[in-house]
Amino acid sequence: MVTRREFIAGTALSASVASFGLVRLAPAAPPVLRLDAKPGTAHLLEAGQPETPIWGYNGRVPGTAIRTRQGEPFAADLHNSLPQPTTIHWHGIRNINAMDGVANLTQPAVPPGGTFAYRFTPPDAGTYWYHPHNRTWEQLARGLYGPFIVEERRPPPVDQDLVLVFDDWRIGDDGAIHEASLGNFHDLSHAGRLGNILTLNGAFAQDIPVKAGQRLRLRLISAANARIIAVRFTGHAPRVVALDGQPVEPFAPKNNLLSLAPAQRADLILDCAGDVGSSAPIQVETGGETLEIGKLIYHASERQRATVLSDAFHLPANPMPAELDHDAAVSIDLDMTGGAMAWFQSAEYRGKTYDVRTLAREHRKVWAFNGIAGMPEKPLARFAAGKTVHVRMKNRTAWPHAMHFHGHHVREISHSARKPLPHWRDTVFMARDEEITVAFRAHNPGKWMLHCHMLAHQAGGMSTWYEVG
Ligand code: C2O
Ligand code: CU
Repeated sequence: MVTRREFIAGTALSASVASFGLVRLAPAAPPVLRLDAKPGTAHLLEAGQPETPIWGYNGRVPGTAIRTRQGEPFAADLHNSLPQPTTIHWHGIRNINAMDGVANLTQPAVPPGGTFAYRFTPPDAGTYWYHPHNRTWEQLARGLYGPFIVEERRPPPVDQDLVLVFDDWRIGDDGAIHEASLGNFHDLSHAGRLGNILTLNGAFAQDIPVKAGQRLRLRLISAANARIIAVRFTGHAPRVVALDGQPVEPFAPKNNLLSLAPAQRADLILDCAGDVGSSAPIQVETGGETLEIGKLIYHASERQRATVLSDAFHLPANPMPAELDHDAAVSIDLDMTGGAMAWFQSAEYRGKTYDVRTLAREHRKVWAFNGIAGMPEKPLARFAAGKTVHVRMKNRTAWPHAMHFHGHHVREISHSARKPLPHWRDTVFMARDEEITVAFRAHNPGKWMLHCHMLAHQAGGMSTWYEVG
């Protein structure tokens, strides 16, 4: 581990050597960020209510907000101070495979007391997040996650750049995380672990101070285990400028409601058109209810500028391989089956076929991809590097899902219900009975997971992997 002092000394040395122009220098090693996964407490409930014991990166929730820069090396050491093994997955980063953090696929889980050195250079700018990839259904529910922001080399100017992390917690009467229901069979086989407390940046209600005329860049992240939410900034008309980290042609969300399935992110540009001294509730719609989760609070007297900015805001494109060769594409099917109300008769698990009762009772698997429950020994498919891939996903279950591709962003190319959207995503929402075909160019070599990000579904069988190269 490089100490702050060694780091400064190293930088000074590089500079003096460089000034002689004698050697070509490797980029200075980045300072190493320490991420200690450990127990802590957080004030998740209303004022006057007790603090909640959580697990968090550096003991806090959300964990340390990481800001790094596109194309520059990043270094973090995970220290595991939890009572169980863990890893870190850098969700949405087109990472090198060895740094993807998937326990038992790209690295062994880090035991209690152990460490792991994560070293990589994020290729794309955007809004990402990090979380464990071992017992994720439990570790995420306990609070292990944090924002991972990759800044553009020249970020378009805004007055404030704010990260807004939404989470859904299941809290018992005692103010503690409801442990007895962690991983229970009902969550596993139905909608996943839905909570009873929504938080914004780890707080029950969050005031966001703004000034009239300001332009905000809001980076929304859903860290919910399973809940689907839709966010509204009342009295404001934000535009979406990126989804899952990747820039989009700016658009206004339908009905001014931005929906986020678990793990999805959106970057919004919000121009503060409210009056000096006013406030505007931030609302979340979920499960037929509307909840207030915070407020934009306008400064009592100061303005940023006389009127709101009128120029458009565009993010520079990321260097993602975006050309797809549909004529030469390889197509695969992904049949999603199982779960309550649409139980399969039988499925394969670790090479053996079981009837649904035995599989549920003995192995707690109730969902399957192409008839296989849980991580198969062989990949779902292998793709030659550079190939265009079509994945026809068919949700034959009675539940919605949030399908997450590691290593690649994918683009929807056909849809049973609406027009194709030209957006690159790493997590694709699928309603019950929906069919969506996505395409991507398999450019990133390695073993990549594909799973539902409703984490009880992932644990209950909705997990597979594909291999590139
Ligand atoms: Cu956000 Cu496989 O995970
Ligand atoms: Cu699911």
